[in-house]
Amino acid sequence: MSERVVKDKYDRPILSLRITLTNRCNVNCIYCHHDGMRSSKNEMTPDEIYKICQIAKRIGVRKIRLSGGEPLIRKDIVEIVSKINSIGFNDISITTNGILLEKYAKDLKEAGLDRVNVSLDTLNPETYEFITKKDYLEAAKKGILKSVEVGLYPVKINMVIMRDINEHEIKDMFNFCKDNNMVLQLIELIESENCDDDKFSAEYHYKLDMVEERLSDIADEVREREFMQGRRKYYINGGEIEVVKPVDNSKFCANCTRLRVTPDGKIKPCLLRNDNLVDIITDIRNNESDEKLEEIFLKGIDKREPFNTD
Ligand code: 5AD
Repeated sequence: MSERVVKDKYDRPILSLRITLTNRCNVNCIYCHHDGMRSSKNEMTPDEIYKICQIAKRIGVRKIRLSGGEPLIRKDIVEIVSKINSIGFNDISITTNGILLEKYAKDLKEAGLDRVNVSLDTLNPETYEFITKKDYLEAAKKGILKSVEVGLYPVKINMVIMRDINEHEIKDMFNFCKDNNMVLQLIELIESENCDDDKFSAEYHYKLDMVEERLSDIADEVREREFMQGRRKYYINGGEIEVVKPVDNSKFCANCTRLRVTPDGKIKPCLLRNDNLVDIITDIRNNESDEKLEEIFLKGIDKREPFNTD
């Protein structure tokens, strides 16, 4: 049976949905934009999230990613995953800082979670506290190891590289990942709305081009990911590193197959814009029909246009 695929005006199929479950967070990272109120007001309930995912499934979405804020801060996170899982997607993943994974990894796996991406920029306790303003490094590490242990796969570590802060730790982090069967993703610090303070980015921004050159030299194999803006994967001594460059390029937009949902239940057609959100939660709360809700979804898709075209 061929599944339905909806494409936007630019012929981009909509295959994945990224739901921001909350803007609240248990750390306070220096590079984070902290947008939103950081309160639980207006957050969607598990049933409302379920409804959104049902409609997404109807129009052909195959993958769900849950993010935040810190999504595991929601006490109903296991229930949310379990409800989404009952719909039947190809892939459910969570982006988390890992601090609460020791508590939740097993239950999440049993509820149907496939994998996690964990943000961890350093293995040094002082650096961790400098970046996050909290001393949860040990908790995060325990959580990460737990998620591997319970069979979430692959576990990917997101490491945002910052000049003079953690650029020298790439090798240590790579070994930590390799030893625990995890993938390392090096992420280039971005400004945009996340950190628009010029001084900040001038101080910390660290171009990953040089890192990539070094990786190319030592890699046993390099592969390019076709549908991910040509992102490169480097295979070294049985370990795996991926390099994530800034999203402000036309390749990123041309290959975008992802629709987003805000914590308060609005469809967000583009990562880089906030001026074209489409309210769907009001109609869900008014018990509108699936047909009507699908129309709203399609309206969100209709608003999609590449942010960068140069
Ligand atoms: N630059 C690069 N990556 C960022 N993230 C958050 N803010 C930034 C930024 N300014 C990444 C984190 C996390 C993911 C959710 O987004 O590393 O892994």
